[in-house]
Amino acid sequence: MAFKSFLASLISIVALFQASQAGLIKRVACPNSKHTATNAACCSWFNVLDDLQKNVLFSECGEASHSSLRIVFHDAIGFSKNSNKGGGADGSIIKFGDTELEFAANNGIEEIADDLQGVADAHGKTYGDIIQFAGAVGVANCAGAPRLQFLAGRPNATAPAPDGTVPDPFQPVSTILARMADAGFSSDELVALLASHTIAAADEVDTTIPGTPFDSTADQFDTQIFIETQLRGLTFPGTGPHQGEVASPLAGEMRLQSDHNLARDPATACTWQSFANNHALMTQKFSAAMKKLAVLGQNTNKLIDCSEVIPVPKGTSVTPHFPAGKSHADIEQACSSTVFPNLPTAPGPAKSVTPVPPGT
Ligand code: HEM
Ligand SMILES: *[C@@H]1O[C@H](CO)[C@@H](O)[C@H](O)[C@H]1NC(C)=O
Repeated sequence: MAFKSFLASLISIVALFQASQAGLIKRVACPNSKHTATNAACCSWFNVLDDLQKNVLFSECGEASHSSLRIVFHDAIGFSKNSNKGGGADGSIIKFGDTELEFAANNGIEEIADDLQGVADAHGKTYGDIIQFAGAVGVANCAGAPRLQFLAGRPNATAPAPDGTVPDPFQPVSTILARMADAGFSSDELVALLASHTIAAADEVDTTIPGTPFDSTADQFDTQIFIETQLRGLTFPGTGPHQGEVASPLAGEMRLQSDHNLARDPATACTWQSFANNHALMTQKFSAAMKKLAVLGQNTNKLIDCSEVIPVPKGTSVTPHFPAGKSHADIEQACSSTVFPNLPTAPGPAKSVTPVPPGT
């Protein structure tokens, strides 16, 4: 105990010292830009930032910012610890787009791939770097998001990733967890990465209802995804194509079968629940898992830290809540060791979740 508090005070003294040093670090003015940087090697990324925000992401937590995060996963997860196939976070999804964008799991990625290719080419950046950069900037456009690490310097991809590395929402949890483990991620890390579905919508799962969000606040990096997926769902009856699948009980919201199952599987349910009313824990675990995802297959000794270019995200005003008309009684308890937290219910009558407008 005494040693712990000694350590704690030592750590805070070190932190103070670092903070005072930070004030003394000289910033350099970046050429052709209104920005200054502590590392001159990061200057060119400010020009990429301005271009991306103005022409692709529109500085908002909309469709393009969401897609920028999705492509981070689909590029990087093309990696296996147990085979030499797939280069991870290497930009192969753009460089070898003729191959990878044909994979069924990459349906809907074409547009952001095309936009990011244009920006990368205009600024002489590799596709591996532009994907990770846009992902971090896209996340930062969402209120409540963490400021992710950004390392620059990935070489060009040399080969496409094989098909079958991106999990499918209809696979059983065991298959999804095995694939993630093959790429080096634990079940807890997968759950942390799925905080991403708090800023997400589907265009391709059901093409008749494009832009259907996975939670009621798709422009906020809040914890609602971990709450709303735990609401008792509606099971499709009959013999149609969706028979036996479980849908969100909220009008206008889509629930992926994989999110539904991960929220209820004994391997993942308690971690899933732990994020429901703990935004700080969720963002911390998400950042840590993203840091790993962003450099899969890369030699980090050859990358330089340009995190200073990533904008500082705004806070969110959303506090964890049950959607209007729902309460703790609607929770399908899955974690066997702890009861789902009780939360306030949003006031007013139940309302339909608004779709995410298409990017322009
Ligand atoms: C079990 C693993 C996962 C499965 C099965 C899955 C599946 C899906 C599906 C089917 C969509 C809808 C695509 C569409 O129809 O347009 C989607 C969207 C999305 N996913 Fe995942 N995903 C998984 C993990 C991840 C991870 C790890 C990330 C990021 C770290 C991520 C980020 C996103 C984002 C941001 C969107 C929204 C894209 C948009 O709105 O344009 N997903 N995911
Ligand atoms: C990547 O490839 C492009 C051309 O395809 C080339 O201009 C560029 O220098 C390469 N970048 C690196 C870092 O190898």
